Amino acid sequence: MNIIITKNYDQMSSEAYNIVKELLIKKNNAVLGLATGSTPKGLYKNMIDDYKKGAVSYKNVCTYNLDEYVGLGKGDKQSYREFMRAYLFNHIDIDLNNTHLPSGKGDLQKACDDYNKKLEAEKIDIQILGIGANGHIAFNEPGTSFDSVTHIVNLTPKTIRDNARFFDKLSDVPTQAITMGIANIMKAKKIVLMASGENKANAVYNAIKGEITTSCPASILRTHSDVTYILDEQAASKLKLGESK
Ligand code: PGA
Repeated sequence: MNIIITKNYDQMSSEAYNIVKELLIKKNNAVLGLATGSTPKGLYKNMIDDYKKGAVSYKNVCTYNLDEYVGLGKGDKQSYREFMRAYLFNHIDIDLNNTHLPSGKGDLQKACDDYNKKLEAEKIDIQILGIGANGHIAFNEPGTSFDSVTHIVNLTPKTIRDNARFFDKLSDVPTQAITMGIANIMKAKKIVLMASGENKANAVYNAIKGEITTSCPASILRTHSDVTYILDEQAASKLKLGESK
């Protein structure tokens, strides 16, 4: 496992972009696994800025997002589909038909099965991940089996509170989501987990130094053959690994 510690969020984002760019240059039809939330916004800004400079193209790139809220989707401002459009897809030359998220509406079990089928047929080149303050990856909350595939999940009160900042009020936050499972995530060729801020320090410590246990879903990533953690100093503050970039 590689650990990159950066001074701050911006440097974390550009380190992550360096890895993505290297892939895009080598493989113009790369398959990217993408995440939502505060953590990857800076990476997406780097992707957009470099695209605008003409350095990279997303014409043949295909993306798979980790999750979607149940009840929200296309046209709903707080859906992850709209998040991705606002922070990335609308600003690059990607074909929206090549961007995939689970459907949070309609027959939910069918939505899980359909997404899972797509993921089985693909090989994600780089999976981008954030980490929850409770160690979750995507919406795989503590206790989720490491063998899990795409499934419906009841969000924990903590995750609902953490995500309330994206909504007008707490009661607007959906209580369920559809998420890639941990087994889907582990299938990616390369995993890049980013974390920023002191509120992630415990989760990062448990993920990297703690026991490998379903109590900290991110701890399983250590068994992946190509995982890079990009952490700002605050997120890495419990690790004491040495100098930062
Ligand atoms: P955040 O969420 O990027 O908004 O901190 C990360 C996560 O919960 O996985």
